[in-house]
Amino acid sequence: MADASGNKIAKNFYTDVPAKSEGFYLKGLNGYDWGVKDRMTRMFNKKSGHTVMLAFDHGYIMGPTAGLERMDITVTPLVEYADVLMCTRGALRSCIPADSNKPVALRCTTGATLLNELSYECLGVDIQDAVRLNASAMAVQVFCGAQYEHNSLQNLAQAIDNGVRFGLPTLGVTAVGKDMVRDARYLGLATRVCAEIGCQFVKTYYCENFEEVTAGCPVPIVIAGGKKLPENEALELCFNAIRDGAAGVDMGRNIFQAESPCAMIQAVREIVHNGATAAQAFEMYQDLKK
Ligand code: 5RP
Repeated sequence: MADASGNKIAKNFYTDVPAKSEGFYLKGLNGYDWGVKDRMTRMFNKKSGHTVMLAFDHGYIMGPTAGLERMDITVTPLVEYADVLMCTRGALRSCIPADSNKPVALRCTTGATLLNELSYECLGVDIQDAVRLNASAMAVQVFCGAQYEHNSLQNLAQAIDNGVRFGLPTLGVTAVGKDMVRDARYLGLATRVCAEIGCQFVKTYYCENFEEVTAGCPVPIVIAGGKKLPENEALELCFNAIRDGAAGVDMGRNIFQAESPCAMIQAVREIVHNGATAAQAFEMYQDLKK
C-alpha cells in the first residue's frame, strides 16, 4: 500500500485501534470532551495538577474594595504570576490588557449587592459573550441554605448546560451566607451539590476536617482566601488546603491587600506548585518584599 506521494504505508496503518487514551490528569473529568479538557489544562498546571487563580471580582457585590480601587494599577502587576484571572467582564474589558494571554474564569452571576439579599442572583452574562472573551470557565455562585438557594442552583444548572454545549467549564462558587457555619458538613454539602449538578470544578472555603470536603467532591476544589489575614497565616491556610486535597487556590484579598502583593502571590505559588511549606513560603515572601 502507498500514500498519495507514493510512500509505503504499513498494512495496519488504517486498521490498528488508536493507543488507549490516558486518564485525564484532573480528578473526575475524564468523561468530558476535548474543549473542556483543553480549557481545564490551560488553567491547571499539568505538572503539579494545581492552579493559582487570582480573584478580583469582589467589586461586583462590594463596589471599590480596598486594594481594588484602581484595578488597572494594582492588578496588572500581578497578572504575570497568576495561572487564571477570576473577574467580571467589566473588569476584564476595562482594566486587563487583552494581550495578557491568561485564562479567565469569568464571573457570570449578578443581581445583588452587599446592600441587599446576596442570594438573589441570576445569570448575568450570555454564554456568547463568555466565548467572545475567550473565557476558560464561567464562575457561578451558589447559596446553599440561603433564601434564594433554588434560584442559585438553577443558575448553576443553566450555566453548565450552556457550557457543555460550547466546551466551556463551569466553576461552582459556594458562597457562605450570614447564618451559615463554615464547617466540613456544610461545605461538604455545598461542594458536592455543585459537582452533582455537573460543574467541572468548585470553589469553597477551607475549614477543619477539610479532607472530608475534598474526599466527598468528585471534581477539583480550589479555595478562596477569605478576609485578609497576616501573611504568614494566609500561607499556612494555603499550605493546609493543598495538603488536605485542594487542587489550588482562588485568592483575592490575601494577595491584593498584602503589604507586597507581588511577593505574596509568588509565595503562594511556591506552596501550590512546588510543595513549599508555609514557613518556607513566608521566608520567600519576606525576601521578595525587601
Ligand atoms: C466572592 C468570590 C471571591 O472571588 C472570593 O471570595 C475570593 O476572594 P477572597 O480570597 O478575597 O475571599 O468568589 O464570592
